[in-house]
Amino acid sequence: MTKLTKLSRSIAGKVALVTGAASGMGRATAHLFADEGARVAVLDRNEEGVKTVVAEILAAGGVAKGWTLDLVHSAGIAPVVVEIATHFGGLDILINNAGIDGSARIQSHRYEEVWERCFAINLAAHHHLIRAALPYLTKSGAGRIVNIASTEGVGGSAYSSPYTAAKHGVVGMTRALAVELGNQGVTVNCICPGAIHTGLTAAIPDKAKETFARRRVPLKRYGDPEEVAHATLSLVLPASSYINGATVVVDGGFTIQNNGGALS
Ligand code: NAI
Repeated sequence: MTKLTKLSRSIAGKVALVTGAASGMGRATAHLFADEGARVAVLDRNEEGVKTVVAEILAAGGVAKGWTLDLVHSAGIAPVVVEIATHFGGLDILINNAGIDGSARIQSHRYEEVWERCFAINLAAHHHLIRAALPYLTKSGAGRIVNIASTEGVGGSAYSSPYTAAKHGVVGMTRALAVELGNQGVTVNCICPGAIHTGLTAAIPDKAKETFARRRVPLKRYGDPEEVAHATLSLVLPASSYINGATVVVDGGFTIQNNGGALS
């Protein structure tokens, strides 16, 4: 059949940098983008994990190369982005996904240390990556930035204020940059995942996960990383050219449930 529409839903040939790509949602995103024909820069602080994900993509016939970097060391970020863009001949898509837990009671003696580290990785690294990637994203003609925030970016939980504050920061930064970069051909959006089975939630006992999901999530389960990766993919498609500054919640209905699950 002759095509009746003009926008493309393919990222084949695009160059995508995914941070935190050795595990969880980053790994699922790297896999999915490679499945879709993108050339993927796999970046993480976990060297073994980077090697494994790159090997998985290459074994499946995809295109990927790995970079090991701890994003806490902000001075190392720009040189690696330049290396990635030089290796692949450009950069079209940046997925700011790497993140850590940032739980601490406000009275805890560890609070400041947790806050500093959480903000360095969950928020400051995003701006370092964006600033380094921008010269390439603007050249792309269809540059895409997706920041992975959290439902903690639109609500709050006790004992989690460093994480919640950083994730609210991610949502705010996404909105401001969406406005600022709109005239440079780059869209900026964010994803707010709810409870997802990843390395970050691996230590939560299964029983606690089940109870939480039964009471708080209309779909009655944790999500899988791949379900979030597909939402991320939808924001980087060439056809998503008019989606800018959006906050896409992927949480099984967790944040919109009014009755706390009391009747279900
Ligand atoms: P994960 O722990 O499975 O993966 C995170 C990856 O980021 C790991 O491979 C880790 O090595 C990497 N990373 C952490 N700190 C780094 C650093 N300083 N430099 C380089 N790489 C670093 O966790 P998950 O859940 O896949 O996390 C991805 C994103 O999703 C994070 O931003 C997290 O805050 C967010 N998120 C996770 C939720 C969940 O329920 N799992 C819910 C909402 C948001």
